[in-house]
Amino acid sequence: MSLHIGVDVGGTKVLAGEVDADGTVRRTARRATPGRRVDAALVEQALTEAVAEVADGRRVDGVGLAAAGFVDAAGERVMFAPHLPWQGEDVRDRLAERWGTVVALDNDANCAALAEGALGAAAGVEDFLLVTMGTGIGGAVVIGGRVHRGTNGMAGEFGHAQVVPDGHACECGGAGCWEQYSSGNALVRLARSGVGREATVLDELCGGDPEAVVGPMVTEAAERGDRVAAAAFASVGDWLGVGIANLVAAFDPALVVVGGGVSAADDLLLDPARRALTRSLVGAAHRTVPEVVRARFGPEAGIVGGAMLARRRA
Ligand code: BGC
Ligand code: NA
Ligand code: ZN
Repeated sequence: MSLHIGVDVGGTKVLAGEVDADGTVRRTARRATPGRRVDAALVEQALTEAVAEVADGRRVDGVGLAAAGFVDAAGERVMFAPHLPWQGEDVRDRLAERWGTVVALDNDANCAALAEGALGAAAGVEDFLLVTMGTGIGGAVVIGGRVHRGTNGMAGEFGHAQVVPDGHACECGGAGCWEQYSSGNALVRLARSGVGREATVLDELCGGDPEAVVGPMVTEAAERGDRVAAAAFASVGDWLGVGIANLVAAFDPALVVVGGGVSAADDLLLDPARRALTRSLVGAAHRTVPEVVRARFGPEAGIVGGAMLARRRA
């Protein structure tokens, strides 16, 4: 049996998984992302460890990297990544040599779109958009069944569309980017600001320390009725829907798929997003408003798509 591994290289964590041709994820390994101001070699070390753990001594037929960053049109380099220390790095060939196997590379959201289009929530849908809600916001535009790449290979970077002039500083160097208002980071920032004030369940979960708050904690607190956590989801979900309305105005897709870690919260996130989409979409009364659905592979969509890419390259 062949062994293909997909690796999601995110701003918070690295997740590697053995994935079958039908999208079944067999075993996974994770490492924390060492940071964005560290030596790039540290990230590559974390990737190497996660891949080795999944391989467990077996021969690897291919690895597909789903990277949270701007990948060049050739799929060789990560040119820029707001949440990672990679800049113009030739990671595909460097890691192929280091690991002695075939390596494929694409943007994490593009990989997720590949998986969802072939085997997931968008199977059989020709024109759809995919938005991943993780540390930041990732995007993919699928037109006629293919991921639209643009001139530089960098189409779909919706997370850095400016939505608030002079707004929150963003890791990309800009300010007021969409992902500052709607992402895992945004959710955590909003939740932290309520710790020690109105948060009840959240206070208990983080032991009263705002810095200890992480995304899944906010989800749990909101599910258990915490007002601060619920308000954080309402805000992030509303911003998600407003952003999606702008994208729908531009691309008129049949479907919008939402993936990434934050999508685990499901309707807590998607209900306010659907309301905001209907409210904000231009001409909503005169068109079909696309459905907004959760990615079938959820937070694993990136690794499933990464493994698919590796299979294609092998
Ligand atoms: C990056 C994207 C990435 C997204 C989700 C954004 O900040 O610019 O390349 O797809 O985060 O990880
Ligand atoms: Na993308
Ligand atoms: Zn930005």
